[in-house]
Amino acid sequence: MAKIENSIMIVFGASGDLTQRKLIPAVHSLGCEGLLPERFHIIGISRSELSDNAFRNRLFSGVKEYSRSDPKVCSLWEGFGESVEYLRGEYDKQETYDALNKRIQDIESNDRKNYNLLLYFAIPPDVHETILKHLNRSGLVGSEGRKVHIVIEKPFGRDLQSARELNRLVHESFGEDQIFRIDHFLGKETVQNILAFRFANSIFEPLWNRQFVDHIQITVAEEVGLEHRAGYYDHSGVLRDMFQNHMLQLLTLIAMEPPAVFEADALRDEKVKVLRALNKCSDVVLGQYKGYLEEEGVAEKSKTPTFAALKMFVDNWRWKGVPFYLRSGKNMKKKVSEISINFKSVPHQLFGQSNGGSSLRPNVLSLCIQPDEGIKLLFEAKIPGGPMKTKTVEMDFSFSSGFGKKELPDPYERLLLDVMKGDATLFARSDEIELAWGIMDPIIAKQENSEVAIRSYDTGSWGPEESNSLLSRDGRRWITACCEESELLEEKENGVE
Ligand code: BG6
Repeated sequence: MAKIENSIMIVFGASGDLTQRKLIPAVHSLGCEGLLPERFHIIGISRSELSDNAFRNRLFSGVKEYSRSDPKVCSLWEGFGESVEYLRGEYDKQETYDALNKRIQDIESNDRKNYNLLLYFAIPPDVHETILKHLNRSGLVGSEGRKVHIVIEKPFGRDLQSARELNRLVHESFGEDQIFRIDHFLGKETVQNILAFRFANSIFEPLWNRQFVDHIQITVAEEVGLEHRAGYYDHSGVLRDMFQNHMLQLLTLIAMEPPAVFEADALRDEKVKVLRALNKCSDVVLGQYKGYLEEEGVAEKSKTPTFAALKMFVDNWRWKGVPFYLRSGKNMKKKVSEISINFKSVPHQLFGQSNGGSSLRPNVLSLCIQPDEGIKLLFEAKIPGGPMKTKTVEMDFSFSSGFGKKELPDPYERLLLDVMKGDATLFARSDEIELAWGIMDPIIAKQENSEVAIRSYDTGSWGPEESNSLLSRDGRRWITACCEESELLEEKENGVE
């Protein structure tokens, strides 16, 4: 593996949750695995009044709570804590950037060598412009003898127009190869495994098309609600929060053609082609969980959807006519992220139907993204003994049994490492982001113009009843094969007595 050069990670918005819960715990695990460069510094910047020590303590408590590597076992933090410093500053004041410059020079003067810079924007979009302009002026971005990479957290804009504007702004200072628009779903091992599953095996790909696939379902159901993020969430809703990014990313990975090489642009070219082929969605169900309006920070009479189900088509040679059903929501029955490929029925039913039995269940291949990471294939098997009766059974692969009980790395570990290496394969390119907004904008407009009713649903349910109708009117229904107690396996038997 190429050596990663010494780096300084500069986090804007360092006093926020993301830094404490995700970024530093991930850095800590990377360090414990020996994956950080020889010298690695962190400078956290934000408006809160904090001393270096208070900042370090806060981060360390995040490491203890959230890092995959236990600091009692890995002693990295003991020396590492000293490499973490805090800079209090206003984002619109030049003195903040002068102070930052000075800190960087101090670090480098000890080494007499330039460090690469990893600028991490963990801040709301309304300050992006201010920071970018100041960074530009400060000379940090274009300084010789180092690589400068910028990581921008989601949301990247709030619609097509603002995303375009943000792309334009970032491009004023950075080349596309320096920009890393993060979507943490792409850092999930099981999401990357979609590519391995499809393109490292030869038996599935011949079936992966309209001739054999009846429809595809993508479910990202969350058990959690707002988690004190009402200020952000109530202005975003599920369409901006989950669909424009994570859900469409999952869809592109499932639907894309194999790239010729596993490289950032080759892969992203293929994803972009899917987004271009994605038909405008006409079937939309929106929901809001009961009790949402009573949540602290939610606007009175808010119409923000916390659940959505969409039916979409990818209009190309491979997928024409195959529906993609997508659903995601908060406060649902179970945390489960799953993609299921539902195959067509057998052309002629030998068992069951002719004798008045119910039709055989078509095969389902489910990619279980989380929490029970694995893959399941549902198929029919003869019930031993007696007449020809079949039942749905499953072939089951789980990451934990296949690769040992070891906890899977957090997505941020992989993504931060990729940023340091300059590998943008798992990051969204500017055209990809804009196309995704172009798909979501009309749906969001319908929601904001109240053209789609917001249905209420019970906390702990699978969303509003209308979400079931979206499929049942096509003669289908939602499945969650990845849940332990999958109902699919408990269903009635089929057969000839
Ligand atoms: C984030 C959303 O991007 O993804 C959250 O803003 C959501 O609302 C989260 O809860 C889900 O991610 P994960 O990794 O917990 O499934």
